[in-house]
Amino acid sequence: MSASAAGIPAADPFGTFDAWLAEAKDSEPNDPNAMALATATPDGAPSVRMVLLKGHGPDCGTGGGFVFYTNAESRKGGEILANRQAAMLFHWKSLRRQIRIEGPLEQVSDAMADEYFHSRHPQSQIASAASDQSRTLPSREVYMRRVAELEERYGADGPVPRPRHWTGFRLCPTRIEFWQDREYRMHERRVFERGGPDVEWTSRMLYP
Ligand SMILES: Cc1cc2nc3c(=O)[nH]c(=O)nc-3n(C[C@H](O)[C@H](O)[C@H](O)COP(=O)(O)O)c2cc1C
Repeated sequence: MSASAAGIPAADPFGTFDAWLAEAKDSEPNDPNAMALATATPDGAPSVRMVLLKGHGPDCGTGGGFVFYTNAESRKGGEILANRQAAMLFHWKSLRRQIRIEGPLEQVSDAMADEYFHSRHPQSQIASAASDQSRTLPSREVYMRRVAELEERYGADGPVPRPRHWTGFRLCPTRIEFWQDREYRMHERRVFERGGPDVEWTSRMLYP
C-alpha cells in the first residue's frame, strides 16, 4: 500500500487531491474519476448516485471547483436546482482511501457545457440527447428508436446540438476531508474547512 508514512499533509488540500487522483489513475481498474454525488430535496431528503469528475481546481470563480456534467431535468438536476447544497465522495479501493467534499453547486457557463458536450464521442452526444434522464422509459425500444432518429439526423460523426438541459455543475467546496486506511483501523483523517469561497482554509485531524 502506498500511503505515505508522513501522513496527510496539513496544507494545500488541492495538492493532496491531485496527488491522490493521480495515484488512483494508476491503480484503479476503471473510472478513477468516479464519485458518489449526494443531493437533497429542499426539505432534506437525500439521494445519491455516481457521476464522473470532469474538471477540478482550487478557484471556483475562475473555472475551478469540482465539475461534473448531467441532465438538469433528471432527478438530481431537480434537486440541485431547488437546493444547491451537495456532497461528493471518492472511494479508491485499490488505495484504501476516501475523500469527502461538501459545498454549494453552481451551474457552469453554456460555453463550458458546449465545449465538454462536443468533446465527447458523437455516439455519446446522441445517447445523452436521446435520454429523458430519470423519467419513465416505457421500453428499451423507445429509447433506441430515439437514438436511431438522431443518428439519421446528425450522422455518425455529429456534432449533435447540446440539449439546453444538458449541463455541468461545479461544487465550490467549503469542506474537504481525506481518509487514509491504517493498520488495525487506526485510520487517519484530516479535514479542511473554510467559511466561504474567499476565506482561508483551516485544517485539523479527526479521530477515526
Ligand atoms: C461510474 C458511473 C459514472 C456515471 N457518471 C455519470 C455522469 O457523469 N453524469 C450523469 O448524469 N450520470 C452518470 N452516471 C449515471 C448516474 O449514476 C445516474 O444513474 C443518472 O445520472 C441518473 O441519476 P438521477 O436519477 O439521480 O438524476 C454514472 C454512473 C456510474 C455507475
